[in-house]
Amino acid sequence: MLEKIKETADFIKNIIQESPDFAVVLGSGLGKLQNEIDPIHVLEYKDIPHFPQTTVAGHTGKLIYGLLEGKKVLMMSGRFHYYEGYSMEIVTFPVRVFHALGIQNLILSNACGGVNPAYSVADIVILKDHINMMPEHPLRGKNMDELGPRFVDMSEPYNKKMIAIAEQTADDHHIKIHQGIYVALQGPTFETPAEYGMIKAIGGDMVGMSTVPEVIVARHMEMDVFCISVITDLGGPDIALAVSHEEVLNAANKAMPNVIAVVKGLIKNYP
Ligand code: HPA
Repeated sequence: MLEKIKETADFIKNIIQESPDFAVVLGSGLGKLQNEIDPIHVLEYKDIPHFPQTTVAGHTGKLIYGLLEGKKVLMMSGRFHYYEGYSMEIVTFPVRVFHALGIQNLILSNACGGVNPAYSVADIVILKDHINMMPEHPLRGKNMDELGPRFVDMSEPYNKKMIAIAEQTADDHHIKIHQGIYVALQGPTFETPAEYGMIKAIGGDMVGMSTVPEVIVARHMEMDVFCISVITDLGGPDIALAVSHEEVLNAANKAMPNVIAVVKGLIKNYP
């Protein structure tokens, strides 16, 4: 694994010749953020050694290096989900590579289902914490001591300074934003009403099928992590609304200008 990480990082390093300030991972339907970057290099996953391919509609499979708000940004358009059948090692491989490239700051995004009654479709939420209910842990197995410790502190999974800057940016732009707790389930089914009820009962504000494995691996390597979610549908024990992937993409699209504004503000003003 260490060998693979190094080979992939060396390949990318040879092309971009620089160490980016930020890595940004685009979630389902959030690909438009890539139009904001002034691209210098675009790499397709299929051309990158050891990089898997994406299998989900709305995820394209490109690594874009360029400038955003004057900062050097490596943007991952199309992420790998556990439900696609990848192991957690593969799901989190890009984050390992980002760290090997010298990147300290990781910005993640996703589309998720809201269970907090204060949320509406197309609202945006900053993750302040998460509950990991994925069936496999990305750090299970022999620890790679070169990358981080066996037992990882998770007292501040999402960087508080990054959250403060994002909040300030939202405020400056009069964007309504929440802070919430994200519960990660493996999917690919959306939740039943009873499952939504469980998410709410255990203290979750929203639920999705990604992000948490990447956050864990990033914190293993002490990267600074920020995540922004778009509420693409609502669920609860008493709401049995049908959800489709299309609705998820539509809501994500609607929230896009707000996501773009917040991410740009964060990149501009952090650290
Ligand atoms: N659950 C519910 N709704 C969603 C999800 C999910 O995992 N992802 C996007 N919308």
